[in-house]
Amino acid sequence: MIFDNHNRPITYLRLAVTDRCNLRCFYCMPEEGIKYLPKHQLLTYEEMERLVRVLARLGVSKVRITGGEPFVRNGLMDFLWRLKAIEGVDELHITTNGVLTEPLVPELVRMGIGSVNLSIDTLDRERFRQITRRDELPAVRRTLDALLAHGVPVKLNAVVMEGKNSEDIPLLAELTRDHPVAVRFIEEMPFNGEGSHYPVLNWTHRRILQELQTLYPGLKRQQDSPFATATTYQIPGYQGTIGIIAAFTRTFCGTCNRIRLTAQGTLKTCLYDNGVLDVRVLLRSGATDADLTAAFLKAFAHRPQNGFEAERERGPVTESMSTIGG
Ligand code: GTP
Ligand code: 5AD
Ligand code: SF4
Repeated sequence: MIFDNHNRPITYLRLAVTDRCNLRCFYCMPEEGIKYLPKHQLLTYEEMERLVRVLARLGVSKVRITGGEPFVRNGLMDFLWRLKAIEGVDELHITTNGVLTEPLVPELVRMGIGSVNLSIDTLDRERFRQITRRDELPAVRRTLDALLAHGVPVKLNAVVMEGKNSEDIPLLAELTRDHPVAVRFIEEMPFNGEGSHYPVLNWTHRRILQELQTLYPGLKRQQDSPFATATTYQIPGYQGTIGIIAAFTRTFCGTCNRIRLTAQGTLKTCLYDNGVLDVRVLLRSGATDADLTAAFLKAFAHRPQNGFEAERERGPVTESMSTIGG
């Protein structure tokens, strides 16, 4: 296993397979969308597979597929089967908005997908339309039902926003009564693709917790894995759990075991860095596996302890979460 310069193991790759998305969540991108990458700037599936092989040899054992929306890229399922077969990749997970996912659930199960994280900020069709600028809640609900029916471990992601969906906190929390799902309430982060402002964080992790404790005085803290982003709770007698992700306040940098590859092949060793290595250029200039390994190791030896602080000095973020991969 490889450790970074702050003695954190690097075992988890978040691999963005596209920057495209079929929704337009207002906290992620403007209504007109973002300027998508031309195809030749995207890593090919062959390139991604090779990089995962190299990283697996360095100790990466968990891969999460992100986007954009992963399922808008053609040929994704075949690629997932190939990743699953790589020695050392013990866990394969996916984060999706669920619009196109329902028909693929049985195949994901056959493949042995570890879990699916589903973005669902609200259970109300009109609020969903306002947040995502698309009327796709019914399709997302069908995906959720299919995942539950097939027994796939599911985490539901809801970014909590004043005036948009804070009334959904109890509705989403109630899903944990009869379903073994992990509902996670997330602080909004400044990655809306427009830049120049940080969101005013009305719903901090503390306020979300207070709200939940008021609604459910018996709320019980659960044990979390040391590398988890969420702090988890459970309502006594309920099947599922409720998590709070302090994504903006970042309470979890100290144990961060993640690296990211963007769809265009940029390595990020922190969500908040601008990219520390252009892996696509390296690949396309004929790098051997040994060259790639050396470049990765060098990057892991210069990882920021808390990338957000460095980012603040550089100025506000203009990126969309859709290009970063979350
Ligand atoms: P698992 O632990 O593998 O389930 O992943 P996750 O829950 O971190 O991933 P997911 O893709 O579901 O993202 C949930 C939320 O956490 C999103 O809003 C992410 O952007 C945010 N997030 C994920 N990783 C980081 C990180 O390294 N730093 C910060 N600040 N936020 C993160
Ligand atoms: N702040 C917090 N979370 C975000 N996501 C997308 N944009 C933001 C943002 N600005 C979440 C999505 C998805 C996950 C990958 O990232 O809701 O669930
Ligand atoms: Fe698409 Fe996810 Fe961004 Fe929403 S948050 S626009 S679903 S990439």
